[in-house]
Amino acid sequence: MRMSCIVERKSRVVKEKILITSALPYANGPLHFGHIAGAYLPADAYARFERMQGNDVLYICGSDEYGAPIILNAELAGRSPKEHVDFFHKINLDFFHKLEISFDHFSRTTSAFHPPIVKEFFLDLLKNGYIEEGTTEQLFSQTENRFLADRYVVGRCPRCGYEQARGDECGRCGASYEASDLIDPRSKLTGSPLTLKKTNHYYLLLDKFKERLSEFLDLKNWKQNVKHFAASYLDEIRPRAITRDLEWGVSLPIEGREDKVFYVWFDAPIGYISATKEWAKTRDDPSAWEKYWFDPKTKYIQFVGKDNIPFHALFFPAMIMGQDQPYKIVDELVANEFYNLEGRQFSKSDGWYIDLDDFFDRFDSDQIRYAIAANAPETADSEFTWKDFQMRCNSDLLGKLGNLVNRVLVFVQNRCQGKIPPPHELEEADLRFVSEMHRLISLIEEHYRNFRLRRVCSSLMELASLGNSYFDAKAPWKDAKEVKNHPFMETTITLCLECVKVIALTSSPIIPKTAEKIWKMLGQEDSISTQQWQASLERTLLPGLSLPKPSILFKKVEDEVIEEEVEKLKKMWTTPKPRI
Ligand code: MF3
Ligand code: ZN
Repeated sequence: MRMSCIVERKSRVVKEKILITSALPYANGPLHFGHIAGAYLPADAYARFERMQGNDVLYICGSDEYGAPIILNAELAGRSPKEHVDFFHKINLDFFHKLEISFDHFSRTTSAFHPPIVKEFFLDLLKNGYIEEGTTEQLFSQTENRFLADRYVVGRCPRCGYEQARGDECGRCGASYEASDLIDPRSKLTGSPLTLKKTNHYYLLLDKFKERLSEFLDLKNWKQNVKHFAASYLDEIRPRAITRDLEWGVSLPIEGREDKVFYVWFDAPIGYISATKEWAKTRDDPSAWEKYWFDPKTKYIQFVGKDNIPFHALFFPAMIMGQDQPYKIVDELVANEFYNLEGRQFSKSDGWYIDLDDFFDRFDSDQIRYAIAANAPETADSEFTWKDFQMRCNSDLLGKLGNLVNRVLVFVQNRCQGKIPPPHELEEADLRFVSEMHRLISLIEEHYRNFRLRRVCSSLMELASLGNSYFDAKAPWKDAKEVKNHPFMETTITLCLECVKVIALTSSPIIPKTAEKIWKMLGQEDSISTQQWQASLERTLLPGLSLPKPSILFKKVEDEVIEEEVEKLKKMWTTPKPRI
């Protein structure tokens, strides 16, 4: 077998246009690893993988900056809504940078590109008979001179009499009701009494799309949980109010109704489109966004957390079905389950969280990216635990992957004059090793394509273990002792270096910084992120190339460090906290 065909495989020639979006995070608080595990890391790894396949990938996201909870939290924090979203937009963007999430563009729904498209969506739906006006009665505060959303309301529970019952649900007996059912309703902020007052709203007639949505869903090959969730929601689909009496939001394009704004779940998904339009502008090609959104051949993949399924599987598709413009409707909806922290939901306000500045002082983004990917909540809820994190870092990244890279590269320095050795004939054991590598590469590709990061991680570790066992079994240090055996040693090392290369390439969507370091240690001058998967796998490393001295990829995560973190968590949990 010739060396040049170590990884010779069929190539896929057709290039695809792939539009990827992650759910727009609310700029209403700091994000945590739970969010990252749901909608961001899986999308980022997929985007990186598809870019390396040579596909035309556009990965879009942005902050979701409207909605009643933002107004409420801004008021509680003593900020204007704009100051509030500016604050969290920046914090969250910084977090994404630290985690190396490779958005092509990250916008915000307060961008000037947003309202015109939202208004156009509304007007098309109205014109096409999918929106109707209706009157309801809502709680109004004379003192504050405004209607109050459910979250602003407290009162006596109609069922158990609890005085501090919330606007939508009783915190004591769990009853759920309309805010107008509360007895003696009051404003949560000022305590002022509330009375019912008539108001007009616009309703999106979702029921008119029922049949089309059902046909659309039937054709999808989505995960069971996603289809199930969507189907049960579809059964009960009915008109839904898409306007609110608030001062913060995209205002209605109707004369005399400019005091109303759109419901946040009406405007936010349109943010995917307005963000793409903003991206096109930054590229000096203002119509570039249409190439993705108006081309039926675009593959559109949305990544969301499971609580967002109905909006992405039904609500937004219906909004698009009612448009005059041929916007793309989602092809793949990847919805992950929840990712918790040591048995409970991440919650900064409850003190159950990981301080991110501390975290990044101590650990590396690839360590957390790998730990999340290896235990991603793909088919069931999963959780971050410090013990699991330590185990993933030490036994997988350091013990398997780091170990292989290090021992092979150190061997090259010590026994091969720091150069990639020349190739020779392969023997039975070498051929077996090569064919096992092929098998694992194909598996890894398949797992990336199916959004199965857990499986990618376990196949990557299998690859590293395979390399380690091959190195052990071939014992090149023995062959190094006798000149006549040097060709055997050289073959072993050549193939081990190929294995290291394969690991760098195939792991790069998950651990991009580490992969780049390995790439440089293999004497490569270009960046691994610009490599074409197939071509780089097929191209063997150049014999005779001098390799730089290897450096350590991962530090061991010591027991004391983990114990300290667990202590810190417990302490924060038991310390009383401020409200925001
Ligand atoms: N902000 C929402 C959340 O965090 C997600 C909005 S997704 C979008 O749950 F499609 F509306 F943008
Ligand atoms: Zn109650």
